[in-house]
Amino acid sequence: MGLKGFPQILTLRDGSTLTARPSTHGDEPALLAFYRELPQEERLFLKDDVTTESWAERFLQRIERGEAVSLLAEKNGKVLAEATLYRPQHGWSRHVGEVRVAVASNHRRKGVATALLRLLVRLASDQGVEKIVVEVVENQTAALRTFAKLGFQREAVLSGHVKDIKGIRRDLLILVNDSSHLWAAIEAMLADSIPGAG
Ligand SMILES: CC(C)(COP(=O)(O)OP(=O)(O)OC[C@H]1O[C@@H](n2cnc3c(N)ncnc32)[C@H](O)[C@@H]1OP(=O)(O)O)[C@@H](O)C(=O)NCCC(=O)NCCS
Repeated sequence: MGLKGFPQILTLRDGSTLTARPSTHGDEPALLAFYRELPQEERLFLKDDVTTESWAERFLQRIERGEAVSLLAEKNGKVLAEATLYRPQHGWSRHVGEVRVAVASNHRRKGVATALLRLLVRLASDQGVEKIVVEVVENQTAALRTFAKLGFQREAVLSGHVKDIKGIRRDLLILVNDSSHLWAAIEAMLADSIPGAG
């Protein structure tokens, strides 16, 4: 799906900038390079095995079919973060979107995830998404804190739903927020941390 208004410049808290743009056919190698550099212990708790070429192929196909929107944040052609919105095209949950986000380890705590989520939430609202869901494994502390700060509420716990590489079962937490509340929370955070943002 072609998205208007991109590329966009993201200004981070430290004053540095990244470029945000939609992922598109041909980004497979850059996406794989990004995900393969994430710490292994974090990759294990992502929903998909994001290091395989077959994953990258399927991912880009889903985007082309309009089932997902993915935004990349990059610097000098290197992907430093990726955020995805999955949205059912049919059925009774068309107003619900699921988000996922990952940021390169050495670019965290600068507001990159928040800035990408802001863009995604706006796209989601434009597409009629009213409710945003995120699935987080119990020990993904940074993710839990990031989404809690944005006002996500824990709506369900699927006990022992995820198995790590050692075969240990972990709880999967389903966090939920309304698009409009999320938008307001992000705007307030950015106004606090980045003068002139928004
Ligand atoms: C979760 C993740 C995307 C956050 O990215 P980020 O760019 O560092 O997030 P932000 O800078 O926008 O952080 C927003 C707020 O979340 C909270 N937060 C984020 N990481 C945190 C951490 N490690 N410890 C405590 N609070 C944290 C903070 O309140 C932060 O605001 P502050 O820095 O002003 O205090 C990143 O840690 C990551 O890629 N983790 C691995 C992948 C993952 O778990 N993805 C989530 C599954 S969908």
